[in-house]
Amino acid sequence: MEKGPRVLASRSRARRRAKRSSPAIQNALTVPATTTLLHGAQMPIIGLGTWPIADAEAPQVVAQAIELGYRLIDTAYAYGNEEGVGRGVRASDVPREELFVTTKLNGEWHGYAAVQEAFRLASQKLDLDYIDLFLIHWPLPGRGRYVDAWRGLIKLLEDGFVRAIGTSNFKPSHIERLIEETGLAPDVNQVQLNPMLTRAEIRACHARHGIRTQSWSPLGLGVQRERAHTDTGLAAERNILKDPGVLEIAQRTGKTPAQVILRWHLELEVTPLPKTTDPKRMAENIDVFDFSLDLADVATISALDHGDVAAVDSDRVGH
Ligand SMILES: NC(=O)c1ccc[n+]([C@@H]2O[C@H](COP(=O)([O-])OP(=O)(O)OC[C@H]3O[C@@H](n4cnc5c(N)ncnc54)[C@H](OP(=O)(O)O)[C@@H]3O)[C@@H](O)[C@H]2O)c1
Repeated sequence: MEKGPRVLASRSRARRRAKRSSPAIQNALTVPATTTLLHGAQMPIIGLGTWPIADAEAPQVVAQAIELGYRLIDTAYAYGNEEGVGRGVRASDVPREELFVTTKLNGEWHGYAAVQEAFRLASQKLDLDYIDLFLIHWPLPGRGRYVDAWRGLIKLLEDGFVRAIGTSNFKPSHIERLIEETGLAPDVNQVQLNPMLTRAEIRACHARHGIRTQSWSPLGLGVQRERAHTDTGLAAERNILKDPGVLEIAQRTGKTPAQVILRWHLELEVTPLPKTTDPKRMAENIDVFDFSLDLADVATISALDHGDVAAVDSDRVGH
């Protein structure tokens, strides 16, 4: 395979372009700050989730999100919308270098060579010559091949086809094994995380190794919610946007409950990926940089935790 675009070259191009485009963008929008990942990439600290958004709807939703200031878009092979997401990204006036596209490989590509094939397929569907962050979607420990897949991702990083590599739904034991066997930690681990699932143990593991935590189901409202609630017997009607503690903080800070929850993620240095197709909610969800939560507010929200037992168990579930 030929070498991909060199990351350093595209970064300096990005800086030159950012100088030209940033003032206008900043006047019109909230553009999230970025964080530096373990292997050097810059990643926006909030992004748009795209599951379950249909492929046909994705171009318009993604283009709209970028217009509103989103710079990180999260998709996956399994969502069936990589083509639509790619179209939305390419339709935007924002230079490619200022955008950050994440996709994820499925279990059938858990293997060193298979990962190179998964990258070719994903970059073809997205119609992008590099991917910012490529994740192993689920560890599937029963198949026992995630370390081989990790070696395949390391090769993509070395060849410059991806700017960052990571995992999703990995438990501390899975992460420790990757590091023991390859010496390289993920840039990111994307896990189910919200005030009902604060995931203290996995966040501590990430902190030890310099891994950035990304949260799926950040509002605790996604489609997986029903399944997790059914598995654990939690009350299915639980909606943290209606929690009295969250409502009190929202009233006091003049923000919405969703903004309070998303700010809670940022206070914990977690990158949330809220999903919505509604432009009003998109704008609401990214407008979280003009206030902060103190330690007492963070503790009030974190007290909604039900423990890891309420999370989808990635030793049993995955694809
Ligand atoms: N790595 C993984 O295994 C994995 C698994 C699941 C999801 N994900 C990723 O994480 C993303 C987010 O997860 P999720 O969709 O499960 O959960 P979520 O973002 O917590 O919840 C999405 C739900 O919240 C609603 N919503 C969004 N903003 C709102 C607001 N401001 N006020 C009230 N309701 C609001 C949305 O409704 P509307 O759309 O109707 O506005 C949607 O029903 C996914 O899209 C996907 O990209 C990853």
